[in-house]
Amino acid sequence: MKFKLPGSFRTPEDFRGRLEELGLSVALDDACEGAEGPLGQPLEWAPGRHLANRFAIHPMEGWDGTRDGSPSDLTLRRWRRFGRSGAALIWGGEAYAVQADGRANPNQLFLDDEEKAVRELGALLDEIRQGRQEIGAGDDLGPVGLQLTHSGRWSRPDGPMASRPATRDELLDARAGAEVEVLTDDELRHIQDRYVLAARAAARAGFEFVDVKACHGYLLHELLGARQRPGPYGGPDFEDRTRFFVELVERIRAELPELEIGCRVSLADVVPHQPSTDHEDRRGEPAALSWRHGFGVNHDDPTRIDMEEPKRFLALLESLGVRLVNVTLGSPYYNPHLQRPAAYPPSDGYQPFADPLVFVGAHLDIVREAKAAHPDLVFVGTGYTYLMDWLPHVAQAEVRAGHVDLVGLGRMVLSYPELPRDVLAGRPMPRKLICRTFSDCTTAPRNGMVSGCYPLDPDYKDRPERDRLEEIKRALKESNKA
Ligand SMILES: Cc1cc2nc3c(=O)[nH]c(=O)nc-3n(C[C@H](O)[C@H](O)[C@H](O)COP(=O)(O)O)c2cc1C
Ligand code: SF4
Repeated sequence: MKFKLPGSFRTPEDFRGRLEELGLSVALDDACEGAEGPLGQPLEWAPGRHLANRFAIHPMEGWDGTRDGSPSDLTLRRWRRFGRSGAALIWGGEAYAVQADGRANPNQLFLDDEEKAVRELGALLDEIRQGRQEIGAGDDLGPVGLQLTHSGRWSRPDGPMASRPATRDELLDARAGAEVEVLTDDELRHIQDRYVLAARAAARAGFEFVDVKACHGYLLHELLGARQRPGPYGGPDFEDRTRFFVELVERIRAELPELEIGCRVSLADVVPHQPSTDHEDRRGEPAALSWRHGFGVNHDDPTRIDMEEPKRFLALLESLGVRLVNVTLGSPYYNPHLQRPAAYPPSDGYQPFADPLVFVGAHLDIVREAKAAHPDLVFVGTGYTYLMDWLPHVAQAEVRAGHVDLVGLGRMVLSYPELPRDVLAGRPMPRKLICRTFSDCTTAPRNGMVSGCYPLDPDYKDRPERDRLEEIKRALKESNKA
């Protein structure tokens, strides 16, 4: 299925027309107002602590750490570029595994020895500080959080899948390619200890908050929907499925009262998808309508979202004093069309079966619904990159209307880290840097290569991996034709 890319609409009226044609409630400003407009307004994110503008950088792993979990030069470069962006909030930096076997790839940063972690996490903060100094943003680091993770079902610490799910799920278990062993309650308790240790290392290194990540199909997200799991951490009751999260937040709070806590959560989800065998173009379709797992999924029709439990989760966050919430959807492994809307799918994905703008619309609608229900929480929204040239226009309109507090940038920052700075300064965006959602930054790591923007970032364009990446994409195109 072919769609007109957002970047090919020449005027706000034309693009607005397309959004209306799709029945989307996405708002769009005609002109960007720079730092004087809504995106340049300060925001109190914690008592007495303010953000200078409404841009946030989402966590973005590079699959480029060393095998012992340390940052490489590429990792340091990425964090410096995050600092150079001018975004007021750096959310997470990237997923930091609390233990070696919870890594999603062999090159993910992870906690081994606490003193080593404090040193290395401090070095990452230094890069952000340096980046900010380079753009004249002063010495103030601004709030930076570290995203803490255990990959659970999607663990691949040594390359091959070494899945340790929170619950049985016939459909996803079969994708692991081997017999999977569900984590026991004792193993979960040990993992909880590791989270607390990682939070301590982050606090000692100078991070202002940690993100207790509950998204994208990883361990804490899967626990939220673990209806079939027996014992204290699963079952039909919401209280049981959130017990691990609550215990963990309370333990971090008790040990580190000065450290703020945030949560990036897949607030809604749908059934895993797969390439269709009925259509020549391998467009995505639901893998099984009988799927009865997930969090924020309608269990009568898993192609649809259900916000009843996600709203309870937001109320729970508020009662726990977790004010910073980064709203995302789905998982990059089983429904990437929802999680990161793209024109071109990654190598393990499928062709879009609807205009990706529809899924951008879903991101914006859900964060609107969340903000309306919990106005005192500070929400970061996701899904903006596919808007391409219209990103600032939509971002400004959403923030102006109070639908979201901060606009989170994912892929766009890999190709064009200066976007927030340029938009706030009222400068035009160089078209050659705007992410066109080619998905190379996902296809590369799926095939064992470091992640980065191979098509648009000059340093990645020249990397030796680029040829292999092109080869993989060519072969995929051929097999799609066959
Ligand atoms: C290469 C790559 C790495 C990512 N790494 C993480 C991560 O470590 N943690 C996380 O929560 N999300 C991660 N994401 C998801 C992004 O943070 C973001 O949710 C997603 O790209 C959609 O936002 P966008 O449309 O602005 O790109 C990653 C995405 C990409 C493309
Ligand atoms: S590789 Fe570059 S252009 Fe492609 S999706 Fe990633 S950031 Fe965007």
